Amino acid sequence: VKEFLMAELEPRDRYQLLTRSVGPRPIAFVSSLSKDGIGNLAPFSYFNVGGANPPSAIICPVKDRNANTKDTLNNIRDTGEYVINICTRSFAEKMSQTSFAYGPEIDEFDAAGLTRVPSVHVKPPRVGESPIHLEMKLFQLVEHGQGPLSSDYIIGEILSIHCDETVLTDGLPDNTKINHIGRLGESWYSSVDEQSLFELERPTKP
Ligand SMILES: Cc1cc2nc3c(=O)[nH]c(=O)nc-3n(C[C@H](O)[C@H](O)[C@H](O)COP(=O)(O)O)c2cc1C
Repeated sequence: VKEFLMAELEPRDRYQLLTRSVGPRPIAFVSSLSKDGIGNLAPFSYFNVGGANPPSAIICPVKDRNANTKDTLNNIRDTGEYVINICTRSFAEKMSQTSFAYGPEIDEFDAAGLTRVPSVHVKPPRVGESPIHLEMKLFQLVEHGQGPLSSDYIIGEILSIHCDETVLTDGLPDNTKINHIGRLGESWYSSVDEQSLFELERPTKP
């Protein structure tokens, strides 16, 4: 067994270990607006949901190698609003294209050719290609560390979830219909389909 002591590694080597070890990670495709109203769209696989009372989710934009913050963090800090669009196989390539380091003046909806759908409770639009949208309000920003590859944890409250009828069965999202994708290390992704799904019931005895 090889042990990697975090204190002995450079941030970029820790990044390689983390992204190859922890996965598959769900992908939040986050749309936001700058304080001047310029649109922004970017994927974040440091993403998960937490409580249901209130319903909450966390995403984690990491500072770049020059310790600059990402547009998504700047926008959410300035406006307090965003949308998390759930990623599926059908628009994975366009999602990936939006992760190019476009300047804040470029709206990635246009750069990648994705469809804006107006939100109901927040100003940033939803991604029409995504079957599930979470409208989000900022709860708290938690900065952990400073400098290159340090993180800001964005904790948000989920105001509303929109689900396309095509992914519902008996009125609820159906995991055999959604075709989620997940992020792994290097350029690897995983895709949920009939072959990769399996079921396990919760234990009923010790
Ligand atoms: C699938 C995928 C997942 C990503 N996850 C993250 C992440 O969790 N945190 C992060 O800081 N960057 C992540 N990135 C890179 C950002 O999307 C990229 O830096 C993007 O340009 C940030 O955009 P923004 O400056 O408009 O916010 C990811 C990229 C891809 C393709």
